[in-house]
Amino acid sequence: MIRLALAPMQDVTDLAFMRTLLRIGSLPDLFITAYFRSTRTTCAMAEANLRCIQENETGVPILAQLAGSEAAALCRDAEALLQLPVAGINLNAGCPSPLVNRHGAGAGLLREPEHFLEIMQALRGVVPAGLFSVKCRLGWAEADEFTDLLPLLAAGGADEVMVHARTRRQLYGGEPQRDYVTRAVQSLPCPVWGNGDIITMDDAAAWVREAGVAGLLIGRGAVRNPYIFRMLRGGNAPTREEMLHYYMVLTEETDRILHTKRTPAGHCNRMKKYLAFCYPDFSREDEYALRRCKDIDDMRRIFERHAAR
Ligand SMILES: Cc1cc2nc3c(=O)[nH]c(=O)nc-3n(C[C@H](O)[C@H](O)[C@H](O)COP(=O)(O)O)c2cc1C
Repeated sequence: MIRLALAPMQDVTDLAFMRTLLRIGSLPDLFITAYFRSTRTTCAMAEANLRCIQENETGVPILAQLAGSEAAALCRDAEALLQLPVAGINLNAGCPSPLVNRHGAGAGLLREPEHFLEIMQALRGVVPAGLFSVKCRLGWAEADEFTDLLPLLAAGGADEVMVHARTRRQLYGGEPQRDYVTRAVQSLPCPVWGNGDIITMDDAAAWVREAGVAGLLIGRGAVRNPYIFRMLRGGNAPTREEMLHYYMVLTEETDRILHTKRTPAGHCNRMKKYLAFCYPDFSREDEYALRRCKDIDDMRRIFERHAAR
């Protein structure tokens, strides 16, 4: 049975979204936090990420993800995060943010392969067997870089490798290049997961058929249709009522994580972080209204109008 994970997305696949998946009955097998930024002086223990770990009541294991470029700092922070209820440590070698890459972290690691290897081996040394994974892209500029990265990924000793089948230059657009992931499946000694643009059942089937991956990581597609995990286990596609239920539950759960910090406009803005990936399913009129919305009850009315169309 193919394994399914929710791909990490900063400010999107947060505790509210995890709780929503639990409530709508469509859970993956694995969560991964958005990255904790690890630097020589500090690990920014982002509260939103910590809450995903400490308040995870879904029963689904969660990996703590680290982004950094200093082996000693990453090892220090991995050891600290392993004290929390996490199922392992995941190294981010894919983030395309210029701010992160400027310091050699995220996809920046792919520009310095030898250093990337040192970091993987250092983390391997402190993370117990079975608990170390790497999430990477195909390369910095060209997908062919992946050919040279493969022996390094093997030598890095990760227990699992998750590949977003794009280069850093491609950011989040362009076709994912699944054939490179097939090579990883064939040459790495560990399970390989595939990631990139899984929106439909056909996309998922193509990943399994063509790349032969052991697992699928789904990000934007799961925010747009969170029932995708249920569907991939043989369940039904969501009805309009179920999609309305999803928007309503997410509205409630977002309210819950905002606690005392909430204002109507703040709550709407929080919702818009998820809705950015759902707009293709709304009419232009509803999308326009949602984008301008400053009142959460108005937002609920737009969801109802959308479901009734
Ligand atoms: C808003 C946003 C935030 C993201 N944050 C992270 C992150 O913190 N760590 C990470 O490894 N990938 C991050 N990603 C990348 C996703 O995990 C995933 O690799 C990418 O979106 C491709 O998968 P998809 O087509 O299923 O969305 C982010 C992507 C988006 C769009």
